Amino acid sequence: MTDPRLQTFIAGCGQRIEATLERWLPSEQVPPARLHQAMRYAILGGGKRIRPILAYATADAIGLAPEQVNGIAGAVEMIHGYSLIHDDLPAMDNDDLRRGRPTCHKAFDEATAILAGDALMTQAFLVLTRDESLPGGPAARLAMLDDLAWAAGSRGMAGGQMMDLEAEGQEIDLTHLEGIHIHKTGALIRASVRMVCRARPDLASDRAERLDRYAKCLGLAFQIRDDILDIEAPTDVLGKTHGKDLAQDKATYPALMGLEGARQAAADLVTEALNSLAPFDAQADPLRWIAAYINERDH
Ligand code: IPE
Ligand code: IPE
Ligand code: MG
Ligand code: MG
Ligand code: MG
Repeated sequence: MTDPRLQTFIAGCGQRIEATLERWLPSEQVPPARLHQAMRYAILGGGKRIRPILAYATADAIGLAPEQVNGIAGAVEMIHGYSLIHDDLPAMDNDDLRRGRPTCHKAFDEATAILAGDALMTQAFLVLTRDESLPGGPAARLAMLDDLAWAAGSRGMAGGQMMDLEAEGQEIDLTHLEGIHIHKTGALIRASVRMVCRARPDLASDRAERLDRYAKCLGLAFQIRDDILDIEAPTDVLGKTHGKDLAQDKATYPALMGLEGARQAAADLVTEALNSLAPFDAQADPLRWIAAYINERDH
């Protein structure tokens, strides 16, 4: 059961991020219409929006208004949406179902899906350069661009995706697996928090470091939970095909240490994330609720 306070918080964030994405995505009529349809299909009206929710919760924790970080939330969700489109392609995980609907390349075609991913990625950076509500001044904006570029690229998400593909069918140790998960999933989750901290250049460095540690733990726990759900959740609840990791011989936490071991690893990380928040007052409660939710989620 999701904490009702978190449910209310998520509902507010959901409206905000939907409106932000709607605002920054070209309409379906703008040529090339098929590309814009595919971008919108992949990203609007679905997903848990955990990265934007984390951005808004971080804003709460450090005294920023949610409307000041809409651009950060939108940019990070666009990178995430692009990563999912490409992750599902036949050359990668070859998935037909995403968020309970046909994947982008199934609903359109592979070439369109590749381009929709490319265009969402670059649109994310356009949002960060153009959004007038981002606080912190030009230096903060530059730091956010740097954070997102790093987190999305070969030393972040894209690098992690490469490592994930290379590890298929291989026996790897825990350090290697942790590295895959921290990069392919953790990097963007961490950036969602870090970019918001950039918007408050006066934030004490100890606070920023604590928030970064929180996000690092949460990002890894989030992917461990994703691995567990691939085994435990039925397709209709998951919105993606059950059991794909085993079928593709993916390197996952349950494969390496069993379901119980994976559950314990994720629980320990959530505890560590919560400990990092110890000096923060009640304004950081949404971050605490999110941490508790990571291992309760059913999809
Ligand atoms: C799925 O991400 C892929 C991972 C990085 C684990 P999410 O679980 O956040 O997917 P949506 O956005 O809610 O569909
Ligand atoms: C994907 O991890 C991480 C990304 C960067 C997209 P998975 O391949 O496990 O994500 P799902 O299970 O397809 O959502
Ligand atoms: Mg994958
Ligand atoms: Mg996948
Ligand atoms: Mg998965």
